[in-house]
Amino acid sequence: MSVQIAPSLLASDFARLADEAYAVADTADWLHVDVMDGHFVPNLTIGLPVVEALLRHARLPLDCHLMIEDPDRWAPGYAEAGARNVTIHAEAAGAPIRTLRQIRAAGARAGLAFNPATPVDPYADLLPEVDMLLLMTIEPGFGGQKFMDLVLPKIARTRELIRGHGGEIWLQVDGGVNEETIGRCAEAGADMFVAGSSVFGAEDPAAAVKALRELATAALADER
Ligand code: DX5
Ligand code: ZN
Repeated sequence: MSVQIAPSLLASDFARLADEAYAVADTADWLHVDVMDGHFVPNLTIGLPVVEALLRHARLPLDCHLMIEDPDRWAPGYAEAGARNVTIHAEAAGAPIRTLRQIRAAGARAGLAFNPATPVDPYADLLPEVDMLLLMTIEPGFGGQKFMDLVLPKIARTRELIRGHGGEIWLQVDGGVNEETIGRCAEAGADMFVAGSSVFGAEDPAAAVKALRELATAALADER
């Protein structure tokens, strides 16, 4: 397992998206893009037109996290546009298997996300259909919230599930990930870390990504 860091543009200056993306281009692995529709979550952000514009500028692959109703209808379009990872929410998908397959067929990695209160175990049979599981460590909708330690046991159980499956599935955590919490996430079994305010709220976002990576890598090494 190697550590991957995905800064969330939600915490960046939306009027300067390309510049914010460049600021972490040399130290991060992905750019995490939070798509919110004001229905699945009580917040509204950006949609496909802005993602398409970002794709023309970003030097990192885009990791699109769709916090929207009816992802079955909208998710494949993000993959077709060129997003390298497209994640849909288990709570919102009506036909998750079909949609995950369409995302893959369009050439992207397929992710399945879970809110803090949604159990992963009922979705165990879907593991062959996914490239990444995303565990929310806050209630989705807003950046800058406090990390929920109560999700840590679920991270550990999900890592076990992935081990049992034997596949190469990434385990992403999103929400309240910072220098204080990232070690606990890595110890529990996460290997991909979304960080919004702890990166773009920092004076030097590139250095913040580096620091997060070092902490997560050290915590993973301790686990071995
Ligand atoms: C919230 C989003 C997150 C958000 C995390 O629903 O999914 O990606 O940007 O922000 P921080 O890292 O500030 O908690
Ligand atoms: Zn997110």
